[in-house]
Amino acid sequence: MRTVTLRHPRTVERLVAGQPTSDGAGVKLNRVLTQHLQRRLDPFLMLDAFGSDNPNDYIAGFPDHPHRGFETITYMIAGRLLHRDSAGHEGLLENGGVQWMTAGRGVVHSEIPQQEAGVMEGFQLWLNLPRRDKMSEPWYRDFKHADLPQFVTPQGVAVTVIAGESHGTPGAVTRDATQPLYLDVHLPAGSRFEQSLPAEHNAFVYVYRGEVTIAGQTVPVQRMALLANDAQADGVVIEAAADAKVLVLAGQPLKEPIAQYGPFVMNTQEEIYQALRDFRDGHLGENAA
Ligand code: FE2
Repeated sequence: MRTVTLRHPRTVERLVAGQPTSDGAGVKLNRVLTQHLQRRLDPFLMLDAFGSDNPNDYIAGFPDHPHRGFETITYMIAGRLLHRDSAGHEGLLENGGVQWMTAGRGVVHSEIPQQEAGVMEGFQLWLNLPRRDKMSEPWYRDFKHADLPQFVTPQGVAVTVIAGESHGTPGAVTRDATQPLYLDVHLPAGSRFEQSLPAEHNAFVYVYRGEVTIAGQTVPVQRMALLANDAQADGVVIEAAADAKVLVLAGQPLKEPIAQYGPFVMNTQEEIYQALRDFRDGHLGENAA
């Protein structure tokens, strides 16, 4: 493990509470990263947090629906979710596992809970694709928790590296165009964690247990701290007085136009109309010839 010593940690630009909503067939969730932050947090398009011990909040799941033009990354903290898609992939996601799906030119998939009681908790992140990759072949991978790269700092901070690189540990997935960093960081009481971040990358921290302090700003549970982009800044320092768990996300902005209509994210309105026509005509989930 490589030690990081930051000289100019980023400050918190603002705290974001997110928006309670429901999606799929009525799954209750908190949309942490909403559409109006898409430009500010380019290349990230959305982050949903779902967590409930009431089956009525999640049982119907997300029946067949399409995607085109971006990637969906689902991280299950607790519970069991079955994925099936039109590209022939199937996977059961559970207990700390990650599913990374590149929709590319199009998939139709379902995400259905495989439990009738108990806690279901997790996150779904939408990561944009650059213009050149929006119509690429769909790609899919499941990672069980044990298969995700992990390390523990001398202070006992446990880090799972879903994407990118942290303290010399490469993540499960890397992407050239967006260089996403996706960490799940568990901080014991009295610990601190430093993460290097390129100054031009957009970045945020989402607290899902306890509370943390970033550059003197308290970040309560279920809040996103949007980190300021300062040309001098070299990373983020997260401190926890009591046990806390956070997600750390950063990525290189694409700086391309974003045209979104529901589950389709393209660069122009004409490409959105094309996606709708392709979906209507049954071409979206077709396997390549
Ligand atoms: Fe989906």
